[in-house]
Amino acid sequence: MSSLFRSRLAKEFDDRTAQFHTSVVEDLRIFEDDINGTEAHDIMLHEQGIIPQEALGKILGALEEIRAEWRRGEVEIGTEYEDVHEYIEGRVIESVGIEVGGMIHTGRSRNDQVVVDMRLRVREELLAITGQLLELVSALLGRAGENTETTMMLYTHGQHAQVGTFAHYLVSYADAFIRDSERLMECYGRVNLNPLGSGPVGGTSIGVDRQITKELLGFDGLVENSIDATSGRDWAVETASSCAILISNLSRAATDLLEWSSVEFGYVELADEYASSSSIMPQKKNPSTLELIRGKSAEVYGCLTELLTMVKGVNSGYYQDLQQTKIPLWRCLDTTRTSLEVMTGIVSTLAVRPEKMRERLEGSLVVAVELVEMMVMEAELSFREAYRLVAALVRDAVEKRKALSDLRPADLDKFAREVLGKPLEVDEALIREATDPESCLMRRKSEGSPHPVQVGKMLEGRARVLDELRVRLKAKDDAVSRAMENLRLKVEDYVVSG
Ligand code: ARG
Repeated sequence: MSSLFRSRLAKEFDDRTAQFHTSVVEDLRIFEDDINGTEAHDIMLHEQGIIPQEALGKILGALEEIRAEWRRGEVEIGTEYEDVHEYIEGRVIESVGIEVGGMIHTGRSRNDQVVVDMRLRVREELLAITGQLLELVSALLGRAGENTETTMMLYTHGQHAQVGTFAHYLVSYADAFIRDSERLMECYGRVNLNPLGSGPVGGTSIGVDRQITKELLGFDGLVENSIDATSGRDWAVETASSCAILISNLSRAATDLLEWSSVEFGYVELADEYASSSSIMPQKKNPSTLELIRGKSAEVYGCLTELLTMVKGVNSGYYQDLQQTKIPLWRCLDTTRTSLEVMTGIVSTLAVRPEKMRERLEGSLVVAVELVEMMVMEAELSFREAYRLVAALVRDAVEKRKALSDLRPADLDKFAREVLGKPLEVDEALIREATDPESCLMRRKSEGSPHPVQVGKMLEGRARVLDELRVRLKAKDDAVSRAMENLRLKVEDYVVSG
């Protein structure tokens, strides 16, 4: 078939240029979205008295046949087509003739067409990614619930910092992912808008009703300005940027779990189905899935950078550069989604080794802060006095290879006289409490701390937030399904009565 859109030109593209120019490969992903968008547009044109009912019936019948072929895997689109839009319009014209088939593109441009297809696709992907993200949050909260008493080391600068719990750690990432899901849903609000009916850039003299296509396709509103609707891609950049932020959180969590999977730490162990081994070293159990989550985050950042760079210099109005936006956008969505799926599996099946975590706390100087704070609260020292005193005790303990829990009241008094020039009386029981990992944790009751009561409160709060997010997500999901189902029914009706 000769090209649909080249009547103005005397020659076809040569093969190499056709291959260079086409978007059919990345368009495969919007194949059905393109059919849905066209059906909605043509139903609207009929309701506006522009396409007669009989013609509409034939057009919709032909579109449904193409859809069925597509679903059977029988569609073959070569690079002789500029894009999926040309292929589908061409097939409809082939099937019902140009007098009827030639009506399908009335009052529309590929510029509003492609962007409606992309928005339809991205909104579904955003819903799926958010759903997966909530699964991950749920897995993290589930594992946290099992580990509120699992004490572990907290690090800053890779050094022993304070005593924490594994539950407290897991909730920190649940919180980050909750923010990510809120970000994705806000982004969804800016994606799920109707650009159709904008014409090539400045609208159309055909009597289109953009509210009708908005309703038919389940959009929440219009991208009103026709220049903005056809040439704006900030919603795609925002999608990629939400994915990039999300995957940076995922990558950081992967880094922690990676380190803690090492023999040196042994805090956690990946289930075998998420680990790999070595071609030569039979002892190896590699947490390579976590390494890939970290590695693939680079790909998502790359997609964001590619998109930003792609759009920054494009004038208003459609330019072919914008065709390229689909490629990084799809990759970014795919990588984000698969990384999330794998991480959810890893978290759900992770073996936790509380005894290994506990071992690390034994005899560690990590309780130094508690010792300082105990003296502030119980021995009437100023914070800096107590800090100096404990620093001297720490130095001495390091030299003598002793633990802070070995300290006796007489040691504190001796050092206080030396460092602060005054005596100090502290109860032995208090020293023991401040220097024992479990009881020192119980002294730290500040809001948001790893104290089991605090973490219990967080878990309750997060369970509520998770429920609310699921309800919000389901409402969006249902609205889309309802609209698409109604469109289906309308199409069937017109096909039968057409
Ligand atoms: N294939 C293009 C894209 O993917 C849409 C076509 C717009 N082309 C045009 N000549 N106005 O963005």
